[in-house]
Amino acid sequence: MSETVSRSPYGSFRRCEVSGADIRCSTEGRANGTGGRYGKQRRFLNLTRGTDRDGPFPRVTLHRVASPCLSGPGRSYDEDMTTKTVEFTRMADGTREEYQYLHGLEREYISELPERLIDALRRLDDGLEGYKVTRYQHSLQTATRAMRDGADTEMIVAALIHDIGDDLSPENHSQVAASIIRPYVRAEVTWVVNMHGIFQYKYYGHHIDVDPDQRDAYRDHRWYDSCANFCERWDQESFDPDYPTEPIETFEPMLREVFSRQPFDPAIVDADAAQPTSA
Ligand SMILES: [Fe+2]
Ligand SMILES: [Fe+2]
Repeated sequence: MSETVSRSPYGSFRRCEVSGADIRCSTEGRANGTGGRYGKQRRFLNLTRGTDRDGPFPRVTLHRVASPCLSGPGRSYDEDMTTKTVEFTRMADGTREEYQYLHGLEREYISELPERLIDALRRLDDGLEGYKVTRYQHSLQTATRAMRDGADTEMIVAALIHDIGDDLSPENHSQVAASIIRPYVRAEVTWVVNMHGIFQYKYYGHHIDVDPDQRDAYRDHRWYDSCANFCERWDQESFDPDYPTEPIETFEPMLREVFSRQPFDPAIVDADAAQPTSA
């Protein structure tokens, strides 16, 4: 892969080529980007498919854009580069060039998932009230107990994010969290997160007229004990404001490691067999 970089009156110009893959992209744009949330500049490029825009906006030619040009280790765009938008207003009208371009942007956006998850966890500090600890503190405490119990990284991260859906999807927050973590961990961990809501009823279901024994339907499941342990030792225990809970910084490296993995890597998600089809 070779790259050339130059400056124009409108901002940065970069051409990148991936030899042997018939991939080449060249863009030039006027700097008008906005600041990003995570200490990075967000980039906005307007795509003109080889035609001139009206007025002073510079010509942009996009032969073919691939994600390595947009999200590779060297980052193809300078911080003052502007990001173009595609021209179509109906998905069916988009061109291959446009979708290749958007795919590159999406890969870059996905790479920031750990930061968005940490933000989402912090927002749980303003969520459901009435307990002695916030959902954010509960999440940190659950992860802390898992870590001190010798759980592996995947299960600790699961403990950290298991209630992350509480604010937007309280009625099925277990399934939300399970869907978020599923591409990155072994099936057992996904199953435990997916089922923890039902298993937790054991501790309080009878007080709200919900069957506390719903978990019994899974008594013979091979990961029943794993979920029961998750709830007994970590989740239901973690409402104590006096427990010495680790800060988010303790778990950030683990969260980043897990959510930076190749999604749906068979060596990871299929490491312990096919995904069960339980509720
Ligand atoms: Fe929960
Ligand atoms: Fe919980």
